[in-house]
Amino acid sequence: MPTTPEKLSKYEKLSSLTYRRVMHLLHEEMNNGLSANYNLKADIKMFPTFVRALPDGTEKGKFLALDLGGTNFRVLMVMINERDVDIQSQTYLIPQRIMLGTGIQLFDHIADCICRFIRDHDLKNETLPLGFTFSFPCKQEGLAKARLSKWTKGFRCEGVVNEDICVLLHEAMKRKNTTSVDVEVMAVVNDAVGTLMSAAHTDRNCEVGLILGTGCNACYMESLENVGLWEGDFEEPSQVLINTEWGAFGDNGCLDFIRTEYDRELDTYSINPGKQIYEKMISGMYMGEIVRLALERLSMEGLLFESADRDCELFHKGRFFTKYVSEIESDHDDFFRNVKQVLEEIGVTNYTSEDCKIVKYICTLVSARAAFLSSAGLATIINKLEKPEITIAVDGSLYRFHPRFHNLMVLKIQELVKPGLKFKLQLSHDGSGKGAALVAAVAIRLRDSKQGRCPS
Ligand code: BGC
Repeated sequence: MPTTPEKLSKYEKLSSLTYRRVMHLLHEEMNNGLSANYNLKADIKMFPTFVRALPDGTEKGKFLALDLGGTNFRVLMVMINERDVDIQSQTYLIPQRIMLGTGIQLFDHIADCICRFIRDHDLKNETLPLGFTFSFPCKQEGLAKARLSKWTKGFRCEGVVNEDICVLLHEAMKRKNTTSVDVEVMAVVNDAVGTLMSAAHTDRNCEVGLILGTGCNACYMESLENVGLWEGDFEEPSQVLINTEWGAFGDNGCLDFIRTEYDRELDTYSINPGKQIYEKMISGMYMGEIVRLALERLSMEGLLFESADRDCELFHKGRFFTKYVSEIESDHDDFFRNVKQVLEEIGVTNYTSEDCKIVKYICTLVSARAAFLSSAGLATIINKLEKPEITIAVDGSLYRFHPRFHNLMVLKIQELVKPGLKFKLQLSHDGSGKGAALVAAVAIRLRDSKQGRCPS
């Protein structure tokens, strides 16, 4: 159902002026990140990715891609033939004990999955170029050299921070002691970058990538003259994709003026207190918990669910999932079918219609704030780039499954961008697989063209 501007005001608890203040702060923090002098102290790291060119549709080849960034790990085989892309993939679970274990355990698990995939897909004895989508903040020293700067999103594997993740992968493959399986890592890619590459393959105006999933992040193409911390060459094209890692916006306290008691409580009990403040107000890993904390408080104060059982899920951390928010907001009438279903799932049985109304209202407030905050972020980038027309490639479960996120964002961005700038939010498909393979493909295309070779 389209959201009209009048309806927008219903969800708006922070003024337009407040969002403009957020934009101003973000702009400053992004510039600090880009500057050689301030980067060390900056929260938003603005990592140059070493991706200098977008796909032009002439890419060809067979690639392996890896995708690590959430509770699942995927291995993919990607066949690119100019505009045609064929993908076969397999998903493997990463158990929590591995997410919180050692780096060796994590990379051994990854190597196991790769070997299984190669065996199942009859790829033995082929050395395929590989693109690794590794969706955590990494300082890149080259396209295939990336050191983890910190873990986010529920991962905390010991011994990986500051290490080159390609080296860790190679070492794990070596430990497997199989001679028939080999991988050549061509590129390490953030999921925001993969998302952008995947959409840019068919849309020439696409210069920004956005992830709204378990985590939240954006990347965009920046002119080298604006990247003070760039230490690479200045040959053409004189641009580089920047992985902003804007999830860390606010870690220095600059967003405290809009944080609520629920944001603070969620942060205090998270595995990374004080970190990823902007991300914690937006992304799917946290949204359900913010709603749960608000419901819990209202219930404690006797304003909701008068006789709720204190042992039910509502009173347990992490038991109200973000998918519930999307489901609840998908109810379009006053029968509250989805709200009731969710309440029953979390063990709340004694509820009134008024309770259902309040639950839904709280969901709309929390998700609209997330949509508006991410819009303020995007509008900052759109205004900075000042392209007359720009496409933003978007992916992530929150954006895909929330019924109003897209519409709320379009309206808010329209309000916040400089007059005359046109933008389009484009759902991008399989950024992590296709995107990572495309980064590898573009790297091979550029390398071959420098060496005067024709692409095979
Ligand atoms: C990570 C980013 C990633 C984002 C979306 C954040 O927690 O730091 O690298 O792009 O999540 O997956």
